[in-house]
Amino acid sequence: MFFTAGASLIVLPALVAALPHPPSFITIPLGQRPRVQRGSGIADVTAFQASIARTAAKVERNFAIYEKNTGRSLAGPRSLRKRAQGSDPLIDFMDTYWYGNITVGTPPVTFTMDFDTGSSDLFLPGPDCGELCSPFTVYYPNASSTSKLLGQSVGLIYGDQSSVIGTTYSDTVSIGGYTAKNQTIVAAQQYSAGFEAPTRVSDGLMGMAFGSLGQSTHSPLFQTLVSQGAVPEPVFAFKLAHSGSELRIGGVNSALYKGAFTYTNVTEPAFWQIAVDGVSANGTQVLSNVSAVVDSGSTTISGDAASVEKLYAAAGGISIGNGTYAYPCDSPPNVTFQIGGKSIAIAPEWINGGFLTDGDNGEALCLGTISGSGPSESFWILGDVFMRNVYTVFDVGNTRIGFADLA
Ligand SMILES: *[C@@H]1O[C@H](CO)[C@@H](O)[C@H](O)[C@H]1NC(C)=O
Ligand SMILES: *[C@@H]1O[C@H](CO)[C@@H](O)[C@H](O)[C@H]1NC(C)=O
Ligand SMILES: *[C@@H]1O[C@H](CO)[C@@H](O)[C@H](O)[C@H]1NC(C)=O
Ligand SMILES: *[C@@H]1O[C@H](CO)[C@@H](O)[C@H](O)[C@H]1NC(C)=O
Ligand SMILES: *[C@@H]1O[C@H](CO)[C@@H](O)[C@H](O)[C@H]1NC(C)=O
Ligand SMILES: *[C@@H]1O[C@H](CO)[C@@H](O)[C@H](O)[C@H]1NC(C)=O
Ligand SMILES: *[C@@H]1O[C@H](CO)[C@@H](O)[C@H](O)[C@H]1NC(C)=O
Ligand SMILES: *[C@@H]1O[C@H](CO)[C@@H](O)[C@H](O)[C@H]1NC(C)=O
Repeated sequence: MFFTAGASLIVLPALVAALPHPPSFITIPLGQRPRVQRGSGIADVTAFQASIARTAAKVERNFAIYEKNTGRSLAGPRSLRKRAQGSDPLIDFMDTYWYGNITVGTPPVTFTMDFDTGSSDLFLPGPDCGELCSPFTVYYPNASSTSKLLGQSVGLIYGDQSSVIGTTYSDTVSIGGYTAKNQTIVAAQQYSAGFEAPTRVSDGLMGMAFGSLGQSTHSPLFQTLVSQGAVPEPVFAFKLAHSGSELRIGGVNSALYKGAFTYTNVTEPAFWQIAVDGVSANGTQVLSNVSAVVDSGSTTISGDAASVEKLYAAAGGISIGNGTYAYPCDSPPNVTFQIGGKSIAIAPEWINGGFLTDGDNGEALCLGTISGSGPSESFWILGDVFMRNVYTVFDVGNTRIGFADLA
């Protein structure tokens, strides 16, 4: 729900802090299941592999930004660099639609954003973007009295020539009724080809990871809200579901989970990276002590090739090439992640990426949404296929993640 920024802007910050905030959250409409299936439930292996490649490219981009920002390297072998060939390094717009509204500027203009816990910048289509951005709401700095040109050029170009190029501004940004002043945003002059798709539903991208992944700023929007005392609690929480998906800003929604949260510390505040104590498949523990990032901007679960091979071996899966696996549809793998003492099982419906064969000539095979294309043993990517099984709170104040059972 949005409160008009007009009302909040005339209130002094001290007064804002003193006011009891009404429960405030954004409901994120969910487009559909991971878009690796065609309408009929038939697996689209090409789309699936393209989605994996985009995730790899995004992770790769963020490795580079982290190194640039910190002079250190995030766990992940260099070999990923050569393999990353995603067509859209920004985000999987084509795969998942976890979107909602923010407002930017004075007077406020509404933008629909993709919420991505796997990156940290805030991009919008800018005034020089031209035709490519014409289907979208454009950010016009000259129309906002609180806009300031910061003037840093931000851009990355990948092997396949896809790119995002823009200039930084700062402006007032509101989300879920909370307002950040002087938030750095990137007004894009150029959106990569992936943005042109008519299926795209959001104007821009809002990164929700940590500042060390920020290319334009070290204070992503949520961190700015926290440092300016604008949110009641320094946490945000996701429920991803068929319907009733929700991002709550500044708190958790107790109606959406049951029991207590099990927390686990973030091991490296860049991505939302945590230690996974173990991964088991059909009762066999196939892995222990692996590192993983929880990423709302990735569709699937990816691990390193060798580990995922072990996982499907224990659960009766068959390799179909490129780190992708199939399994008999009536016998889905039972995959469980142990994190901080909590077991999180991936429901069979989310392991299922659609039918590969119809079973007319034997057993029907389904595409597994866990793939062996992640960068390394120390870098699993737990995307939507994981997040759908649990209520997840991202605790910025304590740099930890909490998981609770869905209500
Ligand atoms: C976002 O804003 C648009 C236009 O203001 C509105 O039509 C839409 O319902 C809003 N979406 C959500 C999820 O609030
Ligand atoms: C803002 O700039 C755009 C072009 O970038 C121009 O079309 C528009 O008229 C300007 N608006 C104002 C209020 O100056
Ligand atoms: C935002 O920037 C303006 C102008 O530079 C400054 O006066 C103001 O104090 C800043 N506000 C915050 C909350 O940083
Ligand atoms: C998590 O981090 C907090 C603060 O740094 C620390 O007090 C706590 O012991 C850590 N928990 C675990 C399980 O390591
Ligand atoms: C899946 O495995 C977990 C532990 O490995 C077990 O508790 C659970 O009952 C299994 N689920 C099914 C449907 O067999
Ligand atoms: C888990 O792995 C990390 C390095 O990836 C290591 O530092 C840590 O000691 C390991 N923990 C256990 C319990 O084996
Ligand atoms: C693996 O991916 C490449 C590039 O997308 C494709 O050309 C090749 O056919 C794929 N191989 C298999 C076995 O799917
Ligand atoms: C794995 O476990 C699931 C759930 O218990 C079961 O349906 C499936 O048949 C098992 N697969 C194998 C190969 O044992």
